[in-house]
Amino acid sequence: MDTRIERINNATAYVQGLLKGRKPQVGIILGSGLGKLADKIEDLVIIPYKEIPGFPVSTAVGHKGNLISGVLGGRQVIAMQGRLHYYEGYPMDMVTLPVRVMSKLGIECLFVSNAAGGLNQEFHVGDLMIINDHINTLPNPLIGPNMEDFGPRFPDMTAAYDRDMIGIAEEIASEMGIKLQKGTYYGTTGPTYETPAEVRFFRLAGADAVGMSTVPEVIVARHCGLRVFGMSVITNISNTDTVAKVLNDGDDVVKQADLAADRMSELFGKLISRMPLNGSRG
Ligand code: HPA
Repeated sequence: MDTRIERINNATAYVQGLLKGRKPQVGIILGSGLGKLADKIEDLVIIPYKEIPGFPVSTAVGHKGNLISGVLGGRQVIAMQGRLHYYEGYPMDMVTLPVRVMSKLGIECLFVSNAAGGLNQEFHVGDLMIINDHINTLPNPLIGPNMEDFGPRFPDMTAAYDRDMIGIAEEIASEMGIKLQKGTYYGTTGPTYETPAEVRFFRLAGADAVGMSTVPEVIVARHCGLRVFGMSVITNISNTDTVAKVLNDGDDVVKQADLAADRMSELFGKLISRMPLNGSRG
């Protein structure tokens, strides 16, 4: 058997054993500094990544490393408190393994969140941005023999970010009286932040925010046929000149994300409670 599939199956079987019949409908990936959304989940089962056979362990600042099952917005969810990044040195199969495991557990849709640098000149630190598209410059995680059990060789990416969910999120935000930005996420490998010339180039390419994650998981989720909702917290404004007074800093990014985490968590909870799910998977 394909060793990638064996690894996915082993991890899934282990997690399923601990879930004791629960069927998660929604998967959530919590980005840098956003792990405290997990505090809003009730009836918890916490599974440390390091106890799951074959599972990668997150090493990045602001990422805890637990899979958390429980109830949010009245629905069964499974959340990754801490993600894996390509810059940590993991191959793409490992970066995206948890998405395939969550898909096998039966989720219908995946929520992804991240901390990102603001490229759009209208953005401010602390803004929440609905991701409505992306530009990928990381290696594509589907390179290699196609895993036919999961999806097609050439998945469509026209509406990678679910239009209906974006519409419901906008309604909820206006009810909550919070302002949401919306835009295109530019995915880089990191771990360097961008040079001012790169920032100008990414803006010209039509991107609104830049970060070092998310795109691999979204590609794999779409390959699995999952619906995706994505949100960036703008934790810093990207510099377009070399004499900028504020330099990018990882601790600052985590601090700003933490400040926005409550708003994002409330929005995710409401969106999860309202979105139509058909219960046909799993
Ligand atoms: N660039 C890339 N990744 C990031 C940034 C940034 O400015 N902020 C948070 N993650």
